Amino acid sequence: MRFIEIKHLAPEHLPDAVELDRLCFGGLWAIEGYRRELDSPNSDLLGLWTWETEDCESGQHGADTHPVQNRAGTHHPPPLQIPPTLIGIGCLWAILEEAHIIMLAIHPQFQGQGLGQALLLALLKSACDRQLERSTLEVRDSNLAAVYLYKKFGFKEAGRRKRYYEDTGEDALVMWRSGQEKPEFQRYLAVEKVQMCDRLHQKNWHLAIDSCEF
Ligand SMILES: CC(C)(COP(=O)(O)OP(=O)(O)OC[C@H]1O[C@@H](n2cnc3c(N)ncnc32)[C@H](O)[C@@H]1OP(=O)(O)O)[C@@H](O)C(=O)NCCC(=O)NCCS
Repeated sequence: MRFIEIKHLAPEHLPDAVELDRLCFGGLWAIEGYRRELDSPNSDLLGLWTWETEDCESGQHGADTHPVQNRAGTHHPPPLQIPPTLIGIGCLWAILEEAHIIMLAIHPQFQGQGLGQALLLALLKSACDRQLERSTLEVRDSNLAAVYLYKKFGFKEAGRRKRYYEDTGEDALVMWRSGQEKPEFQRYLAVEKVQMCDRLHQKNWHLAIDSCEF
């Protein structure tokens, strides 16, 4: 079985974060940039790890290797067979009452399986825990996967920064999501989490119960 866990990065994870950054963004931040985020009380730097255990449905293993599912759809995973690998990274800055989502990426080999939305949901949960009322981000207008993902989670286009990206001269779309201070937002996150777990199960992913920060 394949498990995922989402939690805050720690200093020992930073070399893996830099490697993932290189794969996803061509080297946006060096290790010092990530260290600054860890040191900042206004920053949430989340990682998404995956690991595999031997398939317990093959019948070759005892009952003690079966994961135990709880009502939220998360699992107590059996012991590790392959060590966790960092395959996703997300970061937000808390500025006044706003969450500025400044990074979201999934390893190219793992995209399109619902992991990006799991990480975005975790960032929105962090924003909610910090009692931030709105979230905002900038995204290349050609980055349709990201734009669709953000729209799916209630972000709306609010404007455009002309020729914002120096490498291609592309515009940045500025997107906002409001209403996060309302009680409905917590309910929304809970419902989305259940749906997200269902979708992950269809792809044979299981959210480990130790994803306590999510
Ligand atoms: C953007 C990114 C994080 C999405 O992660 P992902 O794991 O591939 O996305 P998911 O599988 O969770 O998809 C969630 C939703 O995103 C949208 N989406 C994802 N990939 C898409 C694609 N290729 N085309 C259109 N929409 C797409 C869809 O709305 C999808 O929901 P649906 O499957 O119900 O239609 C990922 O593509 C990535 O890391 N890109 C490189 C880094 C980057 O550009 N980050 C954003 C910077 S602002």
